[in-house]
Parts: sequence; C-alpha cells; structure tokens
Amino acid sequence: MPFYEPQEDSELLRIFVEKLARGDVLDMGTGSGILAFAAAKQDDVRSVLAIDLEDDALAHVKNQLRGRHDFLKKIRTQKSDLFADISRDERFDTIIFNPPYLPNEPGDAHPALYGGPGGWELIERLLSDAKSHLKPGGIILLLFSSLTNKERVIQFMKREGYQCRELAMQAHFFEQLYVYELWRST
Ligand SMILES: C[S@@+](CC[C@H](N)C(=O)[O-])C[C@H]1O[C@@H](n2cnc3c(N)ncnc32)[C@H](O)[C@@H]1O
Repeated sequence: MPFYEPQEDSELLRIFVEKLARGDVLDMGTGSGILAFAAAKQDDVRSVLAIDLEDDALAHVKNQLRGRHDFLKKIRTQKSDLFADISRDERFDTIIFNPPYLPNEPGDAHPALYGGPGGWELIERLLSDAKSHLKPGGIILLLFSSLTNKERVIQFMKREGYQCRELAMQAHFFEQLYVYELWRST
C-alpha cells in the first residue's frame, strides 16, 4: 500500500471538514490528501499543513499541488511523526485526524491502519500533544471506530481536559465509525 486510498472513513470525516474547518488547519496523517484538499477549498480556511510519516503519501500530495487551482496554494506538506517535527509555537484553528485506529495483531505493522496494540494508542498521543498546538477556540475533528474502544477514547478526551460532541455514527458490516469534535474549555 503506497499510501492510504480514501475509504468510507475518509468520506465520512470529509463531510465535517467541509462544514467546520476554518482558519489555519492541520491535516494529521494526510494520506492521499483528501481531507487537506477538502479543507483548502473552504473560504474560511487560510492555510493547511498536511503531515504524514510516509514519504509516498507526501510525494503524492506534493504532486497534486502542481495543479492550477488557487486553493492549492494554501497547502504545504511536512514529514513528521505526529507533532515531533512541527514547530513548538505553531498553533492551529482546526486539527483533522483520521488515524490508523485498528488494534495491531502480532506481525501487523502498517502505519496507515494500525494504531497500536489497543488501536487507541496513536489517538491518545495525538490528543495529548495537540493541546499545545490548538489556538484558543480551536477544534479537533477526529474519526475512530468501535474497534478502537470508544469508551476508553472518550474517557481519555475528558481526562485531557477536552469537551467533545459526537457529530456522526455510521454503521458498517463489522464496525461503527464515529466522528467527534473536541475543544478545550476556556
Ligand atoms: C487511515 S489513514 C488516513 C489518510 C487520510 N487522512 C484519509 O482520511 O484518507 C492514516 C494516515 O496516518 C498516517 N500516519 C500513521 N502514523 C502516523 C504518525 N505517527 N504521524 C503522522 N502520520 C501518521 C498514515 O501514513 C496514513 O496516511
């Protein structure tokens, strides 16, 4: 898998990116760039930073940026393991994350799919680190699955001081997908 081809999860989160993304946007784990492009098309969005760990994904997104549409000028790409290589003082109005959320089986390692032994580990790292990269009033748009352990993810959000609301639940054959909006209490 050179990069993650958009699936039902990407399409579901895209609906809320189109409705809610604003200001300076971070698309964490951009993959094909589907959510970065959706964000950049919105008039309320000023800039989009598209991050991924995978060179193939970043090469694909950079290639798309050669097009002529004006909204493409809002997008830049960067390789980073979550926030590791993002400047400490960079802040965002909107952080988008469609993470790898499946629990790892022994031997499974693909970074686009597996979020850790419980599925939720990468989400917890993101939520913990994102606190210092959100502008006042900023939001996180997060997708996860019933396979990720919903109760644990929601408990973690609250423990880290986020408020949240469920924007969508979509039932599939073997899982439910959830989209959450999170923000910090002021
Ligand atoms: C489920 S895919 C989502 C891709 C795209 N955003 C979408 O909605 O179709 C998860 C993406 O996160 C990237 N990723 C995984 N671990 C990461 C990490 N530690 N830091 C940055 N990106 C990561 C993967 O390479 C993959 O592109």
